[in-house]
Amino acid sequence: MNQVDYLRISLVDRCNFRCQYCMPEGAEIDYILHQNLMTQDELLTLLRQVFIPAGFTQFRLTGGEPLIHPDVVDIVRAIAAFPETRDLSMTTNGFLLKSLARDLYEAGLRRINISLDSLNSEVFDQIVGSRGRSRWQQVWDGIQTAYQVGFNPLKLNVVVIPGVNEAEVLDLAALSIDREWHVRFIEFMPIGNHDLFRDRGWVSSEDLRQRIRAKWGLTEGQVRGNGPADVFQIPGARGTLGFISQMSECFCDRCNRMRLSADGWLRPCLLNETGQIDLKTGLRSGVPVHELRQQVLDLLALKPEINFKLRESGSISGSYSRTMSQIGG
Ligand code: GTP
Ligand code: 5AD
Ligand code: SF4
Repeated sequence: MNQVDYLRISLVDRCNFRCQYCMPEGAEIDYILHQNLMTQDELLTLLRQVFIPAGFTQFRLTGGEPLIHPDVVDIVRAIAAFPETRDLSMTTNGFLLKSLARDLYEAGLRRINISLDSLNSEVFDQIVGSRGRSRWQQVWDGIQTAYQVGFNPLKLNVVVIPGVNEAEVLDLAALSIDREWHVRFIEFMPIGNHDLFRDRGWVSSEDLRQRIRAKWGLTEGQVRGNGPADVFQIPGARGTLGFISQMSECFCDRCNRMRLSADGWLRPCLLNETGQIDLKTGLRSGVPVHELRQQVLDLLALKPEINFKLRESGSISGSYSRTMSQIGG
């Protein structure tokens, strides 16, 4: 069993995109009320007094979309300054990155994962649910800016959907050849848009690797990260290709993370709410931090069993009521 030392922190559950695979069109999402969001102070108190003493040293900021949080740069600066922080990263849709990349870097963020599901602006806009104004160019400019500013590794996340962006897999993989960009293909999960999942299905990582291998060949690769990706490389490429295969492979055994939601719930597993604890309410109602820390340690002790339960129940199936934007991806 891995040591669990990686905390994914969802800063906000709202998002300025509405990706088809994440949020079904027209669906009402139950957003967290403003007064229920953790404040910056509450988050930093939990990190300093609860999570770091409980052994967490690697942090990723997620959303919804983390860059719409008004204090995102200050939060990055504060977390980067903790002497215990070994790794700090972010997952973003990139839309606000052009203007924020430099400030984030200067605040201490060094690595970033950006969603880029298509190179075709019309397909991209259709996926992210833009109405009227095209969003592709601004995201592309954000990626270029992040690269120029020095983010390294810079990873691009692609959720592959049959009949939507599947035909672009080779073009997207080719982005890893000339630049040090790390492209990751993610198997589409039945979380969020169940109708799209039912209608389109998913493509396995092995299937994608075969297509890539047939064109360029494929060797094992290496890139810094804490996630579940299997890393490969097109021979001679500057970047790598990652495959996140949560549908075709169970990686619960090597799970090293927990998730903190924007309203302060600690969740031990993406797909399982068992044992989750409401740390923000604890903090607000005056529960001493050493007790909250003990609750986290107790949940850490339960985690192997929780992971095991998921593996026993087969792979990802059933119906998950929360979207990735609510859980933090
Ligand atoms: P690195 O540290 O850069 O390797 O990051 P990461 O891959 O952990 O982070 P990212 O936010 O880019 O994750 C990409 C995708 O991997 C997520 O959006 C999910 O689809 C999937 N993923 C991440 N963590 C988990 C997990 O614990 N379980 C499952 N099933 N999928 C996960
Ligand atoms: N299946 C797989 N990945 C998903 N994401 C969102 N919804 C899904 C889904 N249904 C991932 C995307 C995005 C991140 C925030 O969450 O990779 O980059
Ligand atoms: Fe898209 Fe991420 Fe926003 Fe979901 S949270 S709509 S995946 S950008």
